[in-house]
Amino acid sequence: MPENTRRARDEAFWQTFADRYAVEPGPINLENGYFGRMSRTVVEEYQRNIELINRSNSVHVRQRFEQIESLDIRAQLAELMGVRAQSVALTRNASDGLQSLIRNYNRLQPGDQVLFCDLEYDTVKGAMRWLARHRGVEVIEIDHQHPATFDSLLATYREAFVRYPRLKLMALTHVTHRSGLVMPVQAIASLAKEHGVDVILDGAHALGQIDFNLDTLGIAFAGYNLHKWIGAPLTLGFIYIAPQRLADIDPDMGEMHFPINDIRSRTSYSTPNIPALMTLPLVFEEHEAMGGSATKGARLGYLRNRWVNAVRDLPGIEVMTPDDPRLCCGITSMRFTRHADQQVMVERLLNDYNLFTVARSGAAFGPCIRITPGLTTTAADMDLLAQALTELR
Ligand SMILES: Cc1ncc(COP(=O)(O)O)c(C=O)c1O
Repeated sequence: MPENTRRARDEAFWQTFADRYAVEPGPINLENGYFGRMSRTVVEEYQRNIELINRSNSVHVRQRFEQIESLDIRAQLAELMGVRAQSVALTRNASDGLQSLIRNYNRLQPGDQVLFCDLEYDTVKGAMRWLARHRGVEVIEIDHQHPATFDSLLATYREAFVRYPRLKLMALTHVTHRSGLVMPVQAIASLAKEHGVDVILDGAHALGQIDFNLDTLGIAFAGYNLHKWIGAPLTLGFIYIAPQRLADIDPDMGEMHFPINDIRSRTSYSTPNIPALMTLPLVFEEHEAMGGSATKGARLGYLRNRWVNAVRDLPGIEVMTPDDPRLCCGITSMRFTRHADQQVMVERLLNDYNLFTVARSGAAFGPCIRITPGLTTTAADMDLLAQALTELR
């Protein structure tokens, strides 16, 4: 058995790991998809940085942070991503970065087509629709087949690429927040390339739980945050632009701080959360020390399979996310087929079983309940969830 798979089931190991996090008593949190916890040591480092910056004010920021530390942090981020430092720029979150990429992509002509699917994040959908109003392009919105398979996802894109010959740009979400479906990014990006379609990748949920390499995926433009599975303070994200494609993204509106050949000119400039940024080196160190995305992903996948395997075939329950290991991760959605209102069932899970989940809508397959274990979730929590779903159905 591979080491990560063995470790994923080792409750004693994960209990020791969980002890590094302070957890408020209350409901069992199965809504870890919103944002991740910081470890106690990261919280302490963040607090130290807040106090330092508050004491020294702009002196530290002008003398050390801007000149030295911010560049070092960027280099460490690039190393984590396996890319060159010149191809990443920090942002305030994923939406901020993705919107800059979409807004500033400069290869669109009026009459061109841009595409996104039902599973994309709402702010990405909104930004792609903005292109219709401001660039005169036609927006193509497609729905994925349900249940999705590797082949159906590819076939849907292949059909769209053939059907809409003026397509130039598409949004793609690596891990959709609606159901946790993992898109076959490499195969889709390769198909898109064959048809001359550029891809802007939303990687918000992928970073930290999926082991990937942007070059291998064939992705030139991507946006991320650092607060989901990496364990960084809130308010941080970044964009990636492949160096040879920098000219295809314009400098952001209002930009006047960086030269045109500097990727940082492609982000919206503002005073960032400097103490949070200064905390990143410790965040990266802890992420790597515990085995990185491969270890976290294996644990989250194990927890996910534990409840899904217990309820997948029960009448009254539909698990929306496929079990194909290429298409699933720790996040998975389900619905109660005999109950019309999934929000009511979210409340039953909370009130009757102390399980905190979230209802999600917006996918073509309709409303569902999203279940997201976290790194402090136990196998016993998953067994309680399986029992609750079995009884409530
Ligand atoms: C798939 C996806 N994309 C983008 C975002 C937006 O991220 P942020 O809150 O960092 O702007 C989220 C947030 O949950 C997300 O799940």
